[in-house]
Amino acid sequence: MSVQLVMPAAGLGVRLGASRPKALVELQGRPLLEHTLDRFASLDLLSRAIIVAAPEHIEEISSLILATYPQSDCRVIEGGSVRQESVLLGLNALEDDTSIVIIHDAARPFAPPAIIEASIEAAREYGAATVATPCVDTILVGDEEQWLIDTPDRSCLWYCQTPQTFQRDLIVAAHEAARKDGHKGTDDATLVLRMGGRVRIVEGSPFNLKVTTPSDLLWASLAIEKELV
Ligand code: C5P
Repeated sequence: MSVQLVMPAAGLGVRLGASRPKALVELQGRPLLEHTLDRFASLDLLSRAIIVAAPEHIEEISSLILATYPQSDCRVIEGGSVRQESVLLGLNALEDDTSIVIIHDAARPFAPPAIIEASIEAAREYGAATVATPCVDTILVGDEEQWLIDTPDRSCLWYCQTPQTFQRDLIVAAHEAARKDGHKGTDDATLVLRMGGRVRIVEGSPFNLKVTTPSDLLWASLAIEKELV
């Protein structure tokens, strides 16, 4: 079964407050995107990868990939205004023979290769898988006026991560259904769930962090410096 990576990288990184788009922000002297792609290069998963980028950064990202992974044959395509749109555009660009799709955010530079492999295995066996870590914090639900209205039992809560990995037909159908219904989600596995599909949870790593804010960038830099990732 052929596996293909779709990597949404079209975010502008407004919450990061940097002058560069998030994928191109420097982390220990290299663009964030390169750190992320390294994990997939080590598994030989870049040859058919689709990187989804903002139109104004396609050229820069294409040259970066060509310089760093000259054998990769990655394609860089234009993304949409929200993540879900970018992923759907990536799905529309899949090769015909692809049966397993890995969706991984460019903003998560340290996905451990063993966990990527576990997510592929889970998608082969169950159809859909998301990486996640058990919730260690107490999570509060507040109302619009900032009053506490619920405290869900944290023993069944997980922090969602990527990769999320799927059998191709399932994720394409889930995205098409979401688009038709005007449903806007912040991940892909939940789109499968809302169609009545089952999603396997694969335990991830706390080091698989997502760079969103300046403090995330600091932690990511420290993790490299201390050789934790
Ligand atoms: O903004 P957030 O951190 O949730 O973005 C997650 C991933 O989705 C990032 O890798 C970002 O580049 C990507 N994204 C995208 N297209 C958008 C917005 C975000 O590909 N319009």
